[in-house]
Amino acid sequence: MRILSGILVIYLISIILLSHLTYVAQGRAHYHKRPRRGLSDPPPPSAPVADPPSVPSDPYPTPESNSCVFDVTSFGAVGDGSCDDTAAFRDAWKAACAVESGVVLAPEGGVFKITSTIFSGPCKPGLVFQLDGVLMPPDGPEEWPEKDSKSQWLVFYRLDSITFAGKGTVEGNGQKWWDLPCKPHRGPDGSSSSGPCVSPTMIRFFMSNNIEVKGLRIQNSPQFHMKFDGCQGVLINEIQISSPKLSPNTDGIHLGNTRSVGIYNTVVSNGDDCISIGTGCSDIAIEGVTCGPSHGISIGSLGVHNSQACVSNLTVRNTIIRDSDNGLRIKTWQGGTGSVSNLRFENIQMENVLNCIIVDQYYCLSKDCRNETSAVRVYDVEYRNIKGTYDVRSPPIHFACSDTVACTNITMSEIELLPEEGELLDDPFCWNAYGTQETLIIPPIDCLLDGSPVVEESNDSANYGC
Ligand SMILES: *[C@@H]1O[C@H](CO)[C@@H](O)[C@H](O)[C@H]1NC(C)=O
Ligand SMILES: *[C@@H]1O[C@H](CO)[C@@H](O)[C@H](O)[C@H]1NC(C)=O
Ligand SMILES: *[C@@H]1O[C@H](CO)[C@@H](O)[C@H](O)[C@H]1NC(C)=O
Ligand SMILES: *[C@@H]1O[C@H](CO)[C@@H](O)[C@H](O)[C@H]1NC(C)=O
Repeated sequence: MRILSGILVIYLISIILLSHLTYVAQGRAHYHKRPRRGLSDPPPPSAPVADPPSVPSDPYPTPESNSCVFDVTSFGAVGDGSCDDTAAFRDAWKAACAVESGVVLAPEGGVFKITSTIFSGPCKPGLVFQLDGVLMPPDGPEEWPEKDSKSQWLVFYRLDSITFAGKGTVEGNGQKWWDLPCKPHRGPDGSSSSGPCVSPTMIRFFMSNNIEVKGLRIQNSPQFHMKFDGCQGVLINEIQISSPKLSPNTDGIHLGNTRSVGIYNTVVSNGDDCISIGTGCSDIAIEGVTCGPSHGISIGSLGVHNSQACVSNLTVRNTIIRDSDNGLRIKTWQGGTGSVSNLRFENIQMENVLNCIIVDQYYCLSKDCRNETSAVRVYDVEYRNIKGTYDVRSPPIHFACSDTVACTNITMSEIELLPEEGELLDDPFCWNAYGTQETLIIPPIDCLLDGSPVVEESNDSANYGC
């Protein structure tokens, strides 16, 4: 690791020197004429290529030739990996925000370090944040300025039609955050110390619409890599997210209260959920994604502290999940209300996955959660053409539905899951789960109940409040 980062530093330094020479030779004006790069560059290698994304529609139909590029180095950014370039980024943002189709450019070769920053709007339409170099935060909690929020780093706020793209890297310098003694198993003797543990989400989009994130490499986040709250119209395409397998809470992409989302042709390896979906999300398409190692694709946890939660209309298709704890998971707490409905999981390849298909309505972080009478209702869920191998430490199919609110209308078709190694486990678990098998399922699943439960079906129209 050390040697590798040593080589990386030397490599970066030589790139910086080289590009500095070119920069001097070509002069400043060069950057102001440069067309938007990255958006048309060939995609990075990634697993099954999905159809051209349709959600949301591309807000930039024609590549404009008169776009205004605001290079952060023209605003004083040094890009040597140690100077604080925050002011330059803020100034370049302000300038680009004020013109139509403005481009904030962090050029190739630069390693820009900035502190926690909120890039806020409203801005003129068509704004692009073009990252071709490396962008990184201060190195760990000790270097983090006292006055800055420790819960977030790059924040995009109140924007409409914004693109964050390029061939560059967002490097999170997460190691020192993962090693905090409060993190799981990082304390004395493998315990977790109590005390403040807040760590920054690397990239957060908040209350923004028509967002496109494309082409970037996003790695080593202190906590979640990317988070969308209260957004509508999100298109993520051809990005690569990576953090070590044992990095705590490093979810790849998290969605909360966000609608109309497409995540395509993206590769995620990390230490927590590959993609996690919280309450208030609907109309989500995930296609051509490769997860692993990771904790899979997860809906939830939902309904904590008796809250209402609603998730609907999600499709996951042509996706690979490998070396993961959990494959496709729905997790809800006891005592919530609301519903999770209209989910479709189709053409999923599993490789050495623990809990390939799991619904857990008894999610609990402590040992003592009581069973309650209400629950987030799970219904209309389809699993089609899901094949591959599971880790035999637990059954590959597990439906633990609420005692009082059954899971209903679960459709299973062409499911074929075999042990990665060891003995076949042919005892899928179901509790209060109703549905149909359209084909023979491997492992055979005898526990799924036919029809629907004969209880207060009359109150269905309320859709459990969603
Ligand atoms: C479901 O979501 C997709 C986007 O993933 C959208 O195209 C479709 O219209 C939605 N369906 C409904 C019934 O809202
Ligand atoms: C809650 O209900 C489930 C299903 O009936 C049961 O297996 C479990 O033991 C119960 N837990 C508690 C804490 O009562
Ligand atoms: C079962 O769910 C599917 C979608 O997964 C839906 O098309 C169908 O109408 C549902 N059936 C019933 C009886 O609600
Ligand atoms: C339906 O459920 C709501 C909320 O739980 C309750 O207030 C209402 O009385 C129920 N209606 C019927 C017809 O059972």
